[in-house]
Amino acid sequence: MTTSGLFVVVEGPDGAGKSTLVRWLAARLDEDGREVTAVREPGGTPVAEAARKIVLGASGGVSPAAELFLMLAARADLVAQVIRPALLAGRVVIADRFDLSTLAYQVAGAGLPRAEVEVANRLATGGLVPDVTLVLDVPVEIARARQHRGRRPRDRFERQTDAFHRRVLQAYRAASGTGVVHIDASQSQQAVQDAAWREVTAAAAPTLRGVS
Ligand code: TYD
Repeated sequence: MTTSGLFVVVEGPDGAGKSTLVRWLAARLDEDGREVTAVREPGGTPVAEAARKIVLGASGGVSPAAELFLMLAARADLVAQVIRPALLAGRVVIADRFDLSTLAYQVAGAGLPRAEVEVANRLATGGLVPDVTLVLDVPVEIARARQHRGRRPRDRFERQTDAFHRRVLQAYRAASGTGVVHIDASQSQQAVQDAAWREVTAAAAPTLRGVS
């Protein structure tokens, strides 16, 4: 799909610092006079928020397949209602999680078959591929410590075993493909922001002029 906007995704395990980086990038781009739309997955539309509530809040078990389809329902609606229209309007869209989360959590974490999940995901996104996906890499122990400091109640995924989170992290580390870049998120916040900014400006170069 040809758009005049820029689609930036921030990915990584729970506790990697994604939300802080998304907020910083949105503010920095805004300073540069860019129109920015920030979203987080799952969520961002009434349908996607309803799916989020079910999938993160369910106290009983949710089967891996049910979980997958709730995540993809949320993504399909967000792409159609928010992300595509924003990109077509020339905006920069910054997403806290996108399709790599599904490969990390539902495939590597929960054990669903990769090829089928990739096909279902393409159906949900209509083939939309981010211009750049920043994968924040942080060891499980540091991520856990950051989460404990955050002190909010843990959702269903955050309560998963260390083994589950190690598989998620391995999947992130193995991720490659169009626009995927890895950033060491155990560095200082400043260093992470600098690295992220370099990647965003490089990805933006063909479409944005005057971003420095
Ligand atoms: P959230 O509270 O937004 O966590 P975080 O701040 O770490 O991003 O909850 C999102 C949770 O949903 C997170 O634990 C990962 C999970 N998730 C999936 O399992 N699959 C997906 O496709 C997406 C988008 C999220």
